[in-house]
Amino acid sequence: MPYDAEVFAAATARLEQRRSQAHEENERIKRQLYNKLPRLAAIERELANTGVTAAREIIGGGGDTKGKIEKLRQENLALQAERAELLVENGYPQGLLDVNYFCQKCKDTGYAGDSVCDCLRALLREEACKVANAGSPLPLFTFDSFDLSYYPDTSDGKYDFNVRWHMEKVFSHCKSFAAEFKHADTSLLMLGKTGLGKTHLALSIANAVIEQGYGVIYDTAQNIFMKMEDENYGRTEKKYTFSVFDCDLLIIDELPDFASPFSINSLYNIINTRMLRKLPMIVSTNLTENELAARYGERIFSRLIGQFTLLKFFGNDIRQLKLRRRSNGGAI
Ligand SMILES: Nc1ncnc2c1ncn2[C@@H]1O[C@H](COP(=O)(O)OP(=O)(O)O)[C@@H](O)[C@H]1O
Ligand SMILES: [Mg+2]
Ligand SMILES: [Zn+2]
Repeated sequence: MPYDAEVFAAATARLEQRRSQAHEENERIKRQLYNKLPRLAAIERELANTGVTAAREIIGGGGDTKGKIEKLRQENLALQAERAELLVENGYPQGLLDVNYFCQKCKDTGYAGDSVCDCLRALLREEACKVANAGSPLPLFTFDSFDLSYYPDTSDGKYDFNVRWHMEKVFSHCKSFAAEFKHADTSLLMLGKTGLGKTHLALSIANAVIEQGYGVIYDTAQNIFMKMEDENYGRTEKKYTFSVFDCDLLIIDELPDFASPFSINSLYNIINTRMLRKLPMIVSTNLTENELAARYGERIFSRLIGQFTLLKFFGNDIRQLKLRRRSNGGAI
């Protein structure tokens, strides 16, 4: 994992925070319960005692150590059972006094057995993505500020369907993609002219997915390929490139009209690798399908059209509409 010290420190700090929060919460619950049910406090003291006695036996005990340890083990189990019973009798869940770790597998230590726990991997991905997204306009866009009334409630003379109805479907597809990101198994291709809300929806998805604790990288295609090219020709570690391949969700916005052979090659590798790893991505562009095929070649085009869910954007440039609404005092 080529994460630098800064990313590692941020991730482990968050683990530590989870751990101490879990312990504090546990202490709080204990204080409350021990007040109400003093027998529980006595059981905890007795449990601690059996532990100490067992340790003493192991270190210094002569005679029948094995038998004594077994007896202590039985006492311990009986105390635990009594505690569970007492809790249930009083209407509490029987595990209420256990520390409620964010990740039970590693008890928020980040390591399960000899290996790095998935929860620490996820935090590392998230923190690496935060660094990668520094300075992007991510926080500015949400589903809430997406307004369907900007799309004509007619076929607009140009199409044989109602544009607003169509965009309503696009909008709800994006919302469910974000809400059910855990199960996302497809990628999205957003096509349409400029100013129709592609970036707005892509960033809204990004924010909703980040909120669920996933690592998301968003940038324009040009920036992404430029950073990858810098890493490719520089002597630095390929941290950004690694995250582009590895993050939970990658958003490549505005595939441009012209792309260098390096960009085209990178795009092909990104799409292939992420498809193999079942990691979703969102690609957006102002290009038409024909232009996409002509600029990016058959092998990229066939994957984008064949494997991605196609979301076509229609309507009139919303940047212009907003300016007009403003100068009309709010009316359309
Ligand atoms: N449905 C919408 N509701 C509110 N604002 C929108 C909507 N669609 C686009 N916008 C705004 O219009 C501007 C252009 O939209 P953008 O998403 O950048 O278009 P695109 O990426 O398709 O070129 C942005 O400021 C965006 O916030
Ligand atoms: Mg855009
Ligand atoms: Zn864990």
